[in-house]
Amino acid sequence: IPDHYETALSSVLIPHGVIMDRVEKLAKLIVQEATGPLVVCCVLKGGHQFFADLVNYIKKNVTRGGNSVPLSLEFIKVKSYSGETSGEVKLSLTDDECKEFAGKNILIVEDIIDTGKTMVQLLAKLKKYSPESVKVASLLIKKTPLSNGYIPDYVGFSIPNAFVVGYALDYNEYFRDLDHICVISEHGKEKYAIKN
Ligand code: PRP
Ligand code: MN
Ligand code: MG
Repeated sequence: IPDHYETALSSVLIPHGVIMDRVEKLAKLIVQEATGPLVVCCVLKGGHQFFADLVNYIKKNVTRGGNSVPLSLEFIKVKSYSGETSGEVKLSLTDDECKEFAGKNILIVEDIIDTGKTMVQLLAKLKKYSPESVKVASLLIKKTPLSNGYIPDYVGFSIPNAFVVGYALDYNEYFRDLDHICVISEHGKEKYAIKN
């Protein structure tokens, strides 16, 4: 834990090594189940670390004699949060970008499904552009009464209803530079609150 976050966290929920083991297993499963070339699509910003590690493990798995799957990489930026409250979902996808997905097998890579709003809206938009298939890999799914019921195809960990940060998950853009997935403390929420 870096010094600047020492008092801002109440616990380590998933240590980095445990995350990496799980990501490796998910990579193997995804390679096994792939039926052809995959467009691996990173949902920025929170998805970037999981995406990077997942793609790395997929490459290693293919090298070690797994199903040979060509990957192409796409990035989309989606924003739904300010602070802790979920509001409107903003998708950065233009029509031109969406046309790239026609006829392709897409794997969306996301860090967390919380209420599920982001993913449901993203999937609705992508499906208008007639991809061959769309699957979703989310590192985390949160158990929350605010869930809309959406469950991704691949899940790393199911987590309790707490505000988690680290491994690219942020609180007001902080904590992305933390390896472990941690629960933020009350002090941390104050220390890294938006200041005007
Ligand atoms: C977070 C997270 C997911 C989404 C999940 O992104 O990375 O994309 O919210 O919430 P939901 O299931 O309730 O829709 P955020 O909007 O904070 O943007 P970021 O990835 O840039 O941090
Ligand atoms: Mn996100
Ligand atoms: Mg965020």
